[in-house]
Amino acid sequence: MAWMFCACWFLVTGLIWFTWQQKLRKSASCQQEPPSLPVLPVIGSLLSLQSPFPPHVLFTQLQKKYGHTYSLMMGNHSVIIVNRYVEAKEVLLKKGKTFAGRPRTVTTDVLTRDGKDIAFGDYSAAWRFHRKIVHGALCMFGQGSASIEKIICAEAQSLCSILCETATLDVSPELTRAVTNVVCSLCFSSSYSRGDPEFESMLLYSQGIVDTVAKDSLVDIFPWLQIFPNAELRKLKHCVSIRDKLLQKKYDEHQADYSDHVQRDLLDALLRAKRNAENNNTADISAESVGLSDDHLLMTVGDIFGAGVETTTTVLKWAIIYLIHNPQVQRRIQEELDSKIGGHRTPQLSDRGSLPYLEATIREVLRIRPVAPLLIPHVALTDTRVGDFFVRKGTRVVINLWSLHHDEKEWMNPECFEPGRFLNSEGTSLNIPSSSYLPFGAGVRVCLGEALAKMELFLFLSWILQRFTLSVAEGHSMPCLEGKFGVVLQPVKYKMNARPRAGWEKHKGSPC
Ligand code: HEM
Repeated sequence: MAWMFCACWFLVTGLIWFTWQQKLRKSASCQQEPPSLPVLPVIGSLLSLQSPFPPHVLFTQLQKKYGHTYSLMMGNHSVIIVNRYVEAKEVLLKKGKTFAGRPRTVTTDVLTRDGKDIAFGDYSAAWRFHRKIVHGALCMFGQGSASIEKIICAEAQSLCSILCETATLDVSPELTRAVTNVVCSLCFSSSYSRGDPEFESMLLYSQGIVDTVAKDSLVDIFPWLQIFPNAELRKLKHCVSIRDKLLQKKYDEHQADYSDHVQRDLLDALLRAKRNAENNNTADISAESVGLSDDHLLMTVGDIFGAGVETTTTVLKWAIIYLIHNPQVQRRIQEELDSKIGGHRTPQLSDRGSLPYLEATIREVLRIRPVAPLLIPHVALTDTRVGDFFVRKGTRVVINLWSLHHDEKEWMNPECFEPGRFLNSEGTSLNIPSSSYLPFGAGVRVCLGEALAKMELFLFLSWILQRFTLSVAEGHSMPCLEGKFGVVLQPVKYKMNARPRAGWEKHKGSPC
């Protein structure tokens, strides 16, 4: 009896103290804070977030009750959810630097050796320096003999040969290999052939990482849960250790044959920056101050790999799904390809301006199924405001891109796949009909690979659709349009059929 009384007393006192603290916080600021979901001690708003819907859909629905911008507590972290483009642009563009921080979580720390990468690294001199090097290395590939275009076209050719040999297939591993090889060429000047065991292990560990990292799992909300056995965290650590071995191998090989006179790829660019900084210790750019430790270099390359492969592959998979569901869209792209390019040469980047319907289709895929429906969370680096609301330093800010891209005030029938919405009324030139469209984010944290990704999407899709008509594999149901929420919004596995178009059938001895 006595222990029950004690427990009740602690509970009631705890609740009173918690409510009083919350009131004190609000009155101390004298500022209007965003409406909040109910908050309980320790667990925060977790009970209100129980839902059969994935977080981006739930956050969109919660606007009806709490308005476009509202707050919640994830454990003891205050989070603001932004659902409308006006406020999203304020966060990303107008106050980009103020909101350029990233939260630290248990899973992203495991992935990035405590934030020593670009995507999950906090806003710092090291982050800025690494972004600059990667940006420079990506631009370098714009020119020269090993240009990005040549690399992507070689992969598109190899992908088409495989589609020709195996008409019915789960295209996912093939798309992943094609995109991986582009990123591999950029990072390490190497590529994988079909069935390569290193590539197979990469497929497995990448999926393991997508399944476990940054999903607001309980251990990210309550870090103290790490002390208990945790199957997901174990899986993540295992996948990361395989990735690290692979990265280390590439790093050692590059260090062994590094030359100051040639820059073959991104890893060479990073090694050069490291050597320059080490030889130049008196200058303001010392290796330490700009984060050029071995850990930083490996994590930056790992980041480009992670961010560059899963995202682009996922968009290609969604594009194929929507083309299968909408054969009339596929036909119109093929008519455009036939009339502007014909069958005597392959598509190239300079054709982008003359294939507006294909470009509009890519834009629509990025709208209807945004790869990162909640972007990557941002953090307020100082006390500030979003719209009329006060935002305390350290608050996490989630931009709900899903809500922006499905806002009925901005998009007519947002759940309908309608590439034509990105064209002018004559269907001859491209436009962006609403400001509520940010598939690559915006501002200081905007995607570093936007230009590369757009080239890949255009070249891979134009090569495939010039030669093949895609449909659902016989005996299989139509691919599902619902995504699986994770660090990227992935489609569920599906099988498709790629039928060569007239004139592109396989000829004896020569792949189409
Ligand atoms: C269609 C493909 C892609 C899409 C839709 C996409 C989208 C995004 C989005 C929404 C963000 C988060 C922006 C934010 O938090 O505000 C992001 C960040 C990032 N992306 Fe991409 N991305 C794609 C491809 C790529 C590629 C190919 C690369 C690398 C070569 C890449 C590298 C990065 C990096 C490094 C960041 C972190 C930037 C930072 O935090 O400073 N992405 N991307």
